[in-house]
Amino acid sequence: CAYFDKGQSLKGKHFIVTSGGTREPIDPVRFISNASSGKQGTAIAQSLLDRGAKVSFIYGASDVPPPVGANAITIGSAQDMYDAVHQALPADGAIFCAAVADWRPAQAGAEKIKKTPGETAAPSIQMVLNPDILKSVAQLDAATRPQLVVGFAAETEKLVEHARAKRQRKGCDWLLANDVSPEMGTFGGDQNKIIFFRSDEPQEWDKMSKKGVAEKLADLIAKEFKGA
Ligand code: CTP
Ligand code: CA
Repeated sequence: CAYFDKGQSLKGKHFIVTSGGTREPIDPVRFISNASSGKQGTAIAQSLLDRGAKVSFIYGASDVPPPVGANAITIGSAQDMYDAVHQALPADGAIFCAAVADWRPAQAGAEKIKKTPGETAAPSIQMVLNPDILKSVAQLDAATRPQLVVGFAAETEKLVEHARAKRQRKGCDWLLANDVSPEMGTFGGDQNKIIFFRSDEPQEWDKMSKKGVAEKLADLIAKEFKGA
């Protein structure tokens, strides 16, 4: 049929969306995190909800509240996010928008780390690698892998080159690359400039609002699930 009902185009489909930044504890009162605002992931979840999808929204530290109508699951660390994502499966699609900390302190102190009176030396923090959540889902066997796995790539240099390699390395279907250099104002801002990959060929999107990016992506997803 010629007309396209946006409100129902993803009805019956379940999506996992990750959003915000993870917090990796150093001790009970301190953590390592990043500048993610959660605005882009929240907008994407909203656009999927607006098309009738069911959304498991798994989010860390965020400047904006989770979208109403999502099954919102708040997490702290990357490992928590990993566990929540795998618990939320099966899903038809998964969008990985979160800024996941790549490393965490090897040993989180059970008690607040104290200064030693009279000592001027500072402690050094030993770090270990976190699990790659996107990769772990993109590389699931065909029976459990969501039909569509979408990643983001945050880069500050060689955007196209790094993003193309990242899509291949992780095994996701689509990848949205953005320049997160401070002068672009992407982290925390309301605008985003995307280079979109659904193959090795980059497609440049105009700079637009994060809401605009979410709507464009959700339309592409709806089209994909319609078999168009
Ligand atoms: N991601 C993830 N789990 C991680 C790290 C990243 O799920 N432990 C996801 C992000 O949500 C994003 C994508 O992977 O969708 C790419 O994240 P990015 O930080 O750009 O890439 P990395 O693979 O971590 O590589 P690097 O930071 O070294 O560029
Ligand atoms: Ca990273």
